[in-house]
Amino acid sequence: MPKSTITFVCTECGGESLRWAGQCPHCRAWNTLQEFQVRKAGKDPRPKSIQPARAVALTDMATEDAPRTRLEWGELNRALGGGIVGGSLVLIGGEPGVGKSTLLMHAAAQVARSGKVLYVSGEESGQQVRMRAQRLGALEPAILLLAESDLETICGVIEAERPKLAIIDSIQTVTDGGLDGSAGSVTQVRESAARLMRLAKEINVPIFLVGHVTKDGSIAGPRVLEHIVDTVLYLEGDRRQELRLLRATKNRFGSAEEIGVFAMGESGLEEVPDPSAAILAGAAATAPGTAIVATLEGTRPLLVEVQSLTNKNESGMLRRIANGIDVNRLHMILAVLEKRLNRSFAKSDVFVSVAGGIRITEPAADLGLALSIVSNEESRPMPDGLVVIGELGLSGEVRRVGHLERRLQEAARHGLTRALIPAGSRAGRPSRLDIVEVRSVAEAVSAAFSSPIRSGTFIKEATHGLLRR
Ligand code: TYD
Ligand code: MG
Repeated sequence: MPKSTITFVCTECGGESLRWAGQCPHCRAWNTLQEFQVRKAGKDPRPKSIQPARAVALTDMATEDAPRTRLEWGELNRALGGGIVGGSLVLIGGEPGVGKSTLLMHAAAQVARSGKVLYVSGEESGQQVRMRAQRLGALEPAILLLAESDLETICGVIEAERPKLAIIDSIQTVTDGGLDGSAGSVTQVRESAARLMRLAKEINVPIFLVGHVTKDGSIAGPRVLEHIVDTVLYLEGDRRQELRLLRATKNRFGSAEEIGVFAMGESGLEEVPDPSAAILAGAAATAPGTAIVATLEGTRPLLVEVQSLTNKNESGMLRRIANGIDVNRLHMILAVLEKRLNRSFAKSDVFVSVAGGIRITEPAADLGLALSIVSNEESRPMPDGLVVIGELGLSGEVRRVGHLERRLQEAARHGLTRALIPAGSRAGRPSRLDIVEVRSVAEAVSAAFSSPIRSGTFIKEATHGLLRR
């Protein structure tokens, strides 16, 4: 009986296939399949239980939540689903340089105030890690450092130390001598993670794994681990900007929709418990082309500034550039503006971006984006204190969005005074907001800019008119 068999795993989506192919059969990415060695155990490693397994009535099942270690930062607890669960394996993914090691050193310092933390670094020397910790104010004697990349050695130290938290920075540097392949290959990354998962569960020590997201396929990215680990968090943000979002995409112990918000500064990261305020503080005051939208990240409303710039370009090489927004969404919005408002972007470059390096993942920002484009084109700023909420349909209709009430409350709480919302929304309305319901993008434009617009569409003279005072 063979000791191992070979399959192939896509470094992009983590999908498996039995044969090698140039294109991944699951996600259709090219040249991403890597050989993966599956180890077959010689005999069944599971201990024979003395008693036969017994099923338990659902109602007799214990209800208590998994006990958690809570960190000082509420933003970290939030992203983790309420704190660190004992024996859990958590993957922290992100592009190189985004701040994963920094974030984990902060977390280590917070846990170290009540217990031992083992920080395993295969990427940096002990001195480098110490220097960073010093800069962050995280020089805690209860943080133990291990510069090591051999899996068995790492597991041995975790077992001997039984820390309150173990951090492996990064999983792509860990190697198991018993396996083929170099550090970072799919085989090494997956088998090492699976071994650490078993260890975490056996001795009830939570383990955090750092996983670099890389564009080139030579090392396996965090995606090949997503189905192994309990929790997946991605740290996002533009390296040149301050804000960082820690986004949960999988959590066996809590909501997988939460985000934590942080800001990178001179002495590391700080949590940002009120991101809307931070974003609004940096917002460009009523410049043409900017709009405030209210998006929802998990259960959390966020006021975000979107910006547009349209620029005449006769060369025929049109540019459509979207930062923080899906570029296909931008194409759709431009098409709707062309068709429903008779605008033409056939001779214009269009750039849109979300301030602060934030990425918008839901369509409720469509209408705000559309208005910001119109605002820039007409060189007319949007009214002061206006928040725009609504999804755009292909026929130019403004569609209702979920959790409108939360979005409106967030706007009111931050001193905004007016809101454009989809018509027919049934939501409680904060009394401090002037609310205008709009049915179409044309109505929204006329309400926001309070004058008949340049359009082939007939628009009833400002039916709502609240914005016209
Ligand atoms: P790092 O945590 O090393 O990123 P990763 O582990 O994800 O690769 O963070 C590196 C970046 O963070 C680097 O560009 C410098 C910046 N940084 C600060 O701006 N302030 C700080 O106090 C620290 C420690 C890093
Ligand atoms: Mg690092």
